[in-house]
Amino acid sequence: QAQAIILGIETSCDETAAAIVVRDQSGRGTIRSNVVRSQLDEHAAFGGVVPELAARAHVEWLDHIIAQAIQEAGIELCEIDAVAATAGPGLIGGVLVGLTTAKALAASLDKPLIGVNHLEGHALTARLTNGVAFPYLMLLVSGGHSQFVLVRGVGDYERWGGTIDDALGEAFDKVAKLLSLGHPGGPALEHTARLGDPKRFKFPRPLLREDRLDFSFSGLKTAVRLQAEALAPLSDQDVADIAASFQDTVAHIVGYRARQALERFSTLFPTEPIRLVVAGGVAANRRIAETLETPCHEFGAELIVPPIALCTDNGAMIAWAGAERLALGSSDSLAIAARPRWPL
Ligand code: KG4
Ligand code: ZN
Repeated sequence: QAQAIILGIETSCDETAAAIVVRDQSGRGTIRSNVVRSQLDEHAAFGGVVPELAARAHVEWLDHIIAQAIQEAGIELCEIDAVAATAGPGLIGGVLVGLTTAKALAASLDKPLIGVNHLEGHALTARLTNGVAFPYLMLLVSGGHSQFVLVRGVGDYERWGGTIDDALGEAFDKVAKLLSLGHPGGPALEHTARLGDPKRFKFPRPLLREDRLDFSFSGLKTAVRLQAEALAPLSDQDVADIAASFQDTVAHIVGYRARQALERFSTLFPTEPIRLVVAGGVAANRRIAETLETPCHEFGAELIVPPIALCTDNGAMIAWAGAERLALGSSDSLAIAARPRWPL
């Protein structure tokens, strides 16, 4: 395998991102640049991501972000060996902006195009950052997804359960919103929870009794809302106690499911090292990360949390997924379609 220089483009949600990643002959990846422009300011007033505004901001910024990624990597556009872009799942307007740009670049440079599944980007990031070998278990917890995925190889994934309603990050955001903590709510809620009593409220743990690897957070969110309404007007201490109790509840749920998933992994691969990789923005939550340490310790599993900037949406993860596919001789036609929904 020759060395390959890959441009990666990510526009499926509210970050406009581009990166240059180099994959060397031995299969190791190096991030040469990783530029992310978050659209937080555009959406702040709306308490969530507005798809049309997101698409327009991607149109406005993507060219600059790509130019910056190339400049920071110290290369020329013509040195790129392939162009990778998120082709889904995500907000379709944004995905179209990134994918169409990637097609234009690939066509004009006469280089391969790789349409990357955004989830595959998250799934393979730990190989870029930590050189993790297959197979491993991934827990993806972001604003749009909450799922366990068995990663057997490039393109070989098995979903082991996921959320049947809200994603975990979404639950954090909604609870933060009803506590008036702002958007995105996850970091604000974690911060507030530090001052609270996690034992003050007992919130429900939906689905936990059932023997499946799925999550459900919508009933929990409703219970939190009812509690907040019952106490209104809320003192600062009430808000902190609700935040802490909510966070403790979801940490318990995630830890419990992780134990089940690790058990399943160890039964399936009795002779393989056990590895749990965490991806998605919620991986930044200290309480959640700590909760995963106990079951990992129990199973002698290695817990891998990539640097948080690579757990959240970025171009390097898309470039790397493209590099991994390209190394296996796989690329896409310029006719590849953007897909709003695209399970792994
Ligand atoms: O992966 P990500 O950047 O974007 C998606 O692809 O969704 O994840 C963003 C999500 C948001 O819901 C945000 O509130 C949540 O991750 N998040 C957190 C924390 N930091 C980010 N949730 C809980 N605690 C945090 N510290
Ligand atoms: Zn993501």
